[in-house]
Amino acid sequence: MSFKIVITVFFVLLLPLEVSSSEPKTWINAGYWYSGSESPVPDIDSTLFTHLLCAFAYINSSTYELSIPSSAEQYFSTFTNIVKQKNPSVITILSIWDGTTNSSIFFSMVSQASHRKTFIQSTIKIARLYGFQGIDMWGVSLSTDMNMTNMGTLFDEWRAAINSESTSSRLILIMSGHYSPVVDSDKYPVKSVERNLDWVHIIAYDYYLSKRDNFTGGHAALYDPSSNLNTDYGIKEWIGIGLPASKMVLGLAYHGYAWTLVNPKENGIGAPARGLAITQDGSMSYKYIKWYMKSYKLASMYNATYVVNYCTFGLFWIGFDDVEAIRTKVSYAKDKGLLGYAVWQVPNDDNWVLTKAALGEDKKQGNKKWLLVILLPTICVLIFLLGTLLVVFAERGTQKESYEDNGYRKKVGVS
Ligand SMILES: *[C@@H]1O[C@H](CO)[C@@H](O)[C@H](O)[C@H]1NC(C)=O
Ligand SMILES: *[C@@H]1O[C@H](CO)[C@@H](O)[C@H](O)[C@H]1NC(C)=O
Ligand SMILES: *[C@@H]1O[C@H](CO)[C@@H](O)[C@H](O)[C@H]1NC(C)=O
Ligand SMILES: *[C@@H]1O[C@H](CO)[C@@H](O)[C@H](O)[C@H]1NC(C)=O
Ligand SMILES: *[C@@H]1O[C@H](CO)[C@@H](O)[C@H](O)[C@H]1NC(C)=O
Repeated sequence: MSFKIVITVFFVLLLPLEVSSSEPKTWINAGYWYSGSESPVPDIDSTLFTHLLCAFAYINSSTYELSIPSSAEQYFSTFTNIVKQKNPSVITILSIWDGTTNSSIFFSMVSQASHRKTFIQSTIKIARLYGFQGIDMWGVSLSTDMNMTNMGTLFDEWRAAINSESTSSRLILIMSGHYSPVVDSDKYPVKSVERNLDWVHIIAYDYYLSKRDNFTGGHAALYDPSSNLNTDYGIKEWIGIGLPASKMVLGLAYHGYAWTLVNPKENGIGAPARGLAITQDGSMSYKYIKWYMKSYKLASMYNATYVVNYCTFGLFWIGFDDVEAIRTKVSYAKDKGLLGYAVWQVPNDDNWVLTKAALGEDKKQGNKKWLLVILLPTICVLIFLLGTLLVVFAERGTQKESYEDNGYRKKVGVS
């Protein structure tokens, strides 16, 4: 009977350990570092990421070779070595953008087989030269059928070239795409994307900009009851055109935008605004927003309908993602079966507050307490049971001894 109890106790002890080891091992915590930020690469705490992306290399508009600005070359050539010092298993990825808003250089490149070949060869060569383990094609706009078909062909050829490399460590190939894969009649070549790319990073932010929109907006809203311009809508569209959720990585923004309100009393989401505020283009890093809030003692408001944070100061309105929005989005990504998240961009965090919220590390203290609540009584019970068993055995031993003792006494006739 006591053996059963001991077995039960062991199960109770082991159960919490089993639960915590069932987390998927492929979950991606990626972060971008943009060379234009000029933030020191050694400042990145690479232990908080599985993948780090170095942005951007560009496409030469006349040769179609990959081109890294000479001012940024020092960063690209040392990036992998530096971030691997703190975390040798972090995977580094080279991120490429064509530098235009309409992807005109990219579409010109993909329109000709010889240009595609030059481009592909140069991307693999430079990725290998600098020790990157993957390549990201960032921000290709949605375009006409012809351009999208050519893009699909590029991905087929790119994948073939990567697979034909004579090395066992295959390069990762991904793209960073528009939050929704379909706009009007334009549509990403999803079959080729699924066939050739390891995953798609969904650029799920910058929906509203204070330099453009004359109302306050949740620029990275997860939901929006009155518009399709929100992340949940985009993810559903991607799934709808056939990309499995397990091939999507959700983009998280470490920046916000500041508006000047028309009326300080009308200061919710969608309130009339006169234009940008505080910075030259209205954008603010999370770090700067936190500093600003501390300086003026502003509270961070959270709107759970949209999953956005904001704060107001007189005529100023700042929309951004604080820990609540970040945590909710990471749970959303897990619930929907996505592959992970990618933050833009790492240096904008404030003392790793958002990164730790995304990892759930800010709540680990709580988890540990919860574990103690289960473990402590269990250990006490176990010790008590063992103690009881020992006492029982000890008593039996004593009894046995005294029987023998009696026998001995009888035998020798001692009374
Ligand atoms: C593109 O390549 C050509 C030829 O190598 C070079 O002369 C030109 O400066 C490059 N353009 C840029 C923007 O790097
Ligand atoms: C694309 O954008 C560039 C600037 O980014 C501009 O010079 C060019 O005219 C645009 N091309 C088309 C076809 O809209
Ligand atoms: C591809 O996109 C570019 C840039 O937006 C545009 O100028 C060009 O006309 C498009 N090409 C085709 C074949 O539709
Ligand atoms: C905002 O801009 C739109 C068009 O861009 C215009 O119709 C509207 O009147 C503007 N609203 C305000 C409050 O300025
Ligand atoms: C979120 O903001 C909208 C628009 O201002 C408002 O109608 C709604 O009540 C807010 N929801 C929450 C939960 O604060």
